[in-house]
Amino acid sequence: MESGNGIRVGLLMSRVRVEEKLLLHELEARGAEVVRFDDRDFKLDLSGPSPDMAACDVFLERCINHLRALYTLKLLNDWGLPTVNSYEVANTCGDKLLTSAALEKNGVPTPRTILAFTPESAIEACEELGYPVVIKPPVGSWGRLLARINDRDAAEAILEHKVTLGSFHHGAFYIQQYVQKPGRDIRSFVVGGTTICAIYRASEHWITNTARGGQASNCPITPEIDRLSRAAAASVGGGVVAIDLMESAEGMQVIEVNYTMEFRNSIDTTGVDIPGKIVDYVLQVGRANKERKLALAGN
Ligand SMILES: Nc1ncnc2c1ncn2[C@@H]1O[C@H](COP(=O)(O)OP(=O)(O)O)[C@@H](O)[C@H]1O
Ligand SMILES: [Mg+2]
Repeated sequence: MESGNGIRVGLLMSRVRVEEKLLLHELEARGAEVVRFDDRDFKLDLSGPSPDMAACDVFLERCINHLRALYTLKLLNDWGLPTVNSYEVANTCGDKLLTSAALEKNGVPTPRTILAFTPESAIEACEELGYPVVIKPPVGSWGRLLARINDRDAAEAILEHKVTLGSFHHGAFYIQQYVQKPGRDIRSFVVGGTTICAIYRASEHWITNTARGGQASNCPITPEIDRLSRAAAASVGGGVVAIDLMESAEGMQVIEVNYTMEFRNSIDTTGVDIPGKIVDYVLQVGRANKERKLALAGN
């Protein structure tokens, strides 16, 4: 257990969910000083950090809203304040297109994905991949607004609805090969470059998110899961992330990388103290920053 003595941790949060309660408990258990920053209250003056923010050695980001997290992390990092996760990680993980691009760039196996900008070219992309295909909003989570499309009729209908009813993000279509998986997928957790645990998520439905009724059970970390999880985490910039993996005939593939993940369903399931491991990592980052500041001040 990492000591939190003398480390000031800024907790960026909104509503305190089960996860935040557990993280606060672990921070207190290690003797860290915690300053809460509720995104419903604080304001950010672009000219520089407020004194209470500047006094933090590290920030742990647990906002629910992606845009609030993203903007806050951007400013804090610009001001030289370390955050878990970094702005770069949040920006990449918050956008499925950027995540897939990072995985491809780093040679991490991931389902074939085509980006198209008009319904006409999107239909061509679907035909090229071969049905079924999956269309996902580039920004989104909890399995929402994912569509598995089995034929051209359905593709045309979905694309017309997206164009007519869609928002800004429906100006780009993220179209992915559907991967036949064995009624389950895998969610692994990587903290500071180590794969700490993994769960299977089993479901009758092709969308296996636990938020959509997927059943969690412990998944032993095989060398392949470990290697792909660490490679996926590294390709988005490291930190504290959760990786969605699928077993397929062509081997294991990475679907997405999540930041600010939920983990309440995975602690008892795996027997791994996930919040404890996250907090230990945050305190390491905070201590390194504190020592750097002291060295700079000539102490
Ligand atoms: N290409 C695919 N082939 C098969 N199943 C998929 C595919 N993409 C997503 N899924 C299923 O849908 C779930 C949610 O997709 P994901 O890309 O992780 O989005 P979200 O951000 O909503 O979790 C995955 O965990 C997986 O079970
Ligand atoms: Mg997912």
